[in-house]
Amino acid sequence: MDVLTGRWLIQPARESRRSRGLLERHPSCHFVCPDDQPGAYAPAVATTVYYCASSLDGYIAEGDDSLDWLLDYEGTFEHEAAEPDPMSEGGGYEGFYEGVRALVAGSATYEWILDHLDVAGGGQWPYRGKPCWVLSSRELRLPEGEGVDVRIVEASVGEVYGEMAAAAGDGVLWVVGGGGVASQFADEGRLDEVHVTVVPVVLGAGKRLFERRLPSGSMQLTGTRTFKNGMVELRYEIRH
Ligand SMILES: NC(=O)c1ccc[n+]([C@@H]2O[C@H](COP(=O)([O-])OP(=O)(O)OC[C@H]3O[C@@H](n4cnc5c(N)ncnc54)[C@H](OP(=O)(O)O)[C@@H]3O)[C@@H](O)[C@H]2O)c1
Repeated sequence: MDVLTGRWLIQPARESRRSRGLLERHPSCHFVCPDDQPGAYAPAVATTVYYCASSLDGYIAEGDDSLDWLLDYEGTFEHEAAEPDPMSEGGGYEGFYEGVRALVAGSATYEWILDHLDVAGGGQWPYRGKPCWVLSSRELRLPEGEGVDVRIVEASVGEVYGEMAAAAGDGVLWVVGGGGVASQFADEGRLDEVHVTVVPVVLGAGKRLFERRLPSGSMQLTGTRTFKNGMVELRYEIRH
């Protein structure tokens, strides 16, 4: 798997609760101060972001886990406001990934990444240097290489969130997918933002963006980006 391909399973920009004005960093330390309690400092809070690409009809993969619809997608959007493709060098993905301090994925997503690593061609685990939790009830193979930190756990989100959030610090905890894992975070009230890049393809069936209804109801739109390849990124904040 080349670096850019991997980026779709890895995926934008941080618009944390801090930047939304809900939390403000104390100038001299790694703590944040709730706006309504000046002087009362609490540990920095990670922002949990589900960042992924979805078909127009809300699927992140086909039923057999194929991502050809995404990886082979070609399109154009000729508009002066359109940005370079999100996966291009210096594109939206890179900005997002810089802010990521920890990741979490389900086992199907993890195994897809491992299966598509072109080790012979020099392909390496794409998230080196950042801890990645993989939720699974099975013993799974581990990638090799310097900086690989993959932690396979069988646990509920409630049980492992604290550890993940501590690792993420005041950065982003990236929920890579799939939809079931994102739904588990939402059910626990631990999903803060959804950044979805919509690909103008209709699949009709497959693995859903979310597995079930979100308990929190409607989300707040916080930003959009249009790309020269015709994809559109939608950023939403979840109202807790
Ligand atoms: N378009 C995109 O941007 C994007 C992003 C992410 C993923 N994807 C793709 O979408 C597909 C996602 O597949 P998916 O929704 O089936 O799967 P998934 O969320 O990646 O994996 C689901 C599996 O993870 C394990 N698991 C989940 N929660 C667990 C928990 N709390 N404790 C223990 N184990 C747990 C279970 O399997 P076991 O217990 O059997 O291991 C479960 O069947 C993949 O093909 C992936 O490549 C696409």
